[in-house]
Amino acid sequence: MNSINRRSILLAGLGAAGAGALAACTTSGSAPALVSPPGSAVAATEKRRGGTARQHKIALTAAPARIDLGGGVKANTWAFDGRTPGKGIRLSAGDTLVAELANQLPGKATTSIHWHGIALRNDMDGVPPATQTAVRPGSTFTYRFVADAPGTYFFHPHVGVQLDRGLYAPLIVEDPREPLAYDDEWVVVLDDWVDGVTGTPDEVFAELTRGMGGMDMGDNTFMLMGAKSDLLGGDAGDVKYPYHLVNGRVPDDPEVYTGKPGRKVRLRIINAGSDTAYRVALSGHKMTVTHTDGFPVRHRQTDALLIGMGERYDVLVTLADGVFPLVALAEGKNTSGLALVRTGSGRAPTAAVRPRELNGTVMTASGLRAAGDVRLESVAADVTHRIELTGGMMHYNWAINGKPFDMADPEANAILVEEGRRVRLDFVNTTAMWHPMHLHGHTFQLGRSGPRKDTAIVLPKKTLSVFFDADNPGQWMLHCHNAYHGEAGMMTDVAYQA
Ligand code: C2O
Ligand code: CU
Repeated sequence: MNSINRRSILLAGLGAAGAGALAACTTSGSAPALVSPPGSAVAATEKRRGGTARQHKIALTAAPARIDLGGGVKANTWAFDGRTPGKGIRLSAGDTLVAELANQLPGKATTSIHWHGIALRNDMDGVPPATQTAVRPGSTFTYRFVADAPGTYFFHPHVGVQLDRGLYAPLIVEDPREPLAYDDEWVVVLDDWVDGVTGTPDEVFAELTRGMGGMDMGDNTFMLMGAKSDLLGGDAGDVKYPYHLVNGRVPDDPEVYTGKPGRKVRLRIINAGSDTAYRVALSGHKMTVTHTDGFPVRHRQTDALLIGMGERYDVLVTLADGVFPLVALAEGKNTSGLALVRTGSGRAPTAAVRPRELNGTVMTASGLRAAGDVRLESVAADVTHRIELTGGMMHYNWAINGKPFDMADPEANAILVEEGRRVRLDFVNTTAMWHPMHLHGHTFQLGRSGPRKDTAIVLPKKTLSVFFDADNPGQWMLHCHNAYHGEAGMMTDVAYQA
């Protein structure tokens, strides 16, 4: 295949998004023609999405910032408009988001925004160079798309390991016909933090990619050895983080949510971390799980939840009377993030508090079922792709099907799909670690009746089958949401054929 020709034609179309009727790229040889992000198939799908006439306009500036993590901790990082998490965005389903991103990052740092979990038009998905050209320092790019599925989402750049900077914020798409009854809602954003404290994410990645081979075990700043979790099937993570944050704050000086006893609150919990799964519990409360990754599930009660990077869970709690720690235990890392819920009098717990609920029932996606209205009627697939997760810590050669992804040539080793088909992906994890696998632009179903999700934990040595309808043409990344695994090469392109 002549991927150079195909790429240059693809990118030539990117400058003329909207104007061009570039339906597909032409190819030489026998390689199939692929749907082009700025082409007519993508535009036609967006048109079918319809939506309200309402536009929600915002501006976002990505720039260096000195942020206050609370408790006297300050960090130099990159953030949207000087804060981490960035200011959340709220839309009503069907509204058009118009977001102008200005890149004020230093040096040659290009950037982008990926709207994690949203089934949007492909040319707004924020993955340079596959879906747009990178936004250069000093320049801007305007994202414009309809968000038609309600739910809890977030956004972050899709360049290098910028995900592990302070560049992230929640994106909530409200349901104008919200079926759940609750009095209040709180957004809970979890993050593992290194930037500007012990080093930068680029330094972390550089150390990890040197691999364990030949490394003197005592001689590393960021690499974490011996993080173990039964829930995650063994090795829990690779990176040592000095802090775990809830809504951008350290446990010594936590965010305080205030409410009234007896009130019902919806928590929208987002794991924006890069290498940490969190086990989350609210002391003295049961949680009722209502959604994961934006989509409804059959309600289930639980004491705690396990949330991988990129996953989101919505839960309902009925507030008790007092002061309660909301703890995000960094799974397998023996450290935690903290927020407080205050509805009455009482003393605040210590920063390292461990509510007993953490060791009660711990819900994972495999214990949930899709709600009736979002469940796929049958799981008869037209095509099955085997997605082997490969590589390891020793050589830090994380990959899919043994081939590390090259962002400069995203179509190499692409997984080809055709619009209108039901696709089955079999994630076959041959590695000794768990991986939170994320598919852009779609929400797959776990197995026959499991939840609809866009990010799913695949345990070591296990296989997970997921199903989705190929109804959103474009070039869509499929990758591990461990920022370092993804950047090392555990990523591929699910490419629609023209
Ligand atoms: Cu959170 Cu490829 O994305
Ligand atoms: Cu991974």
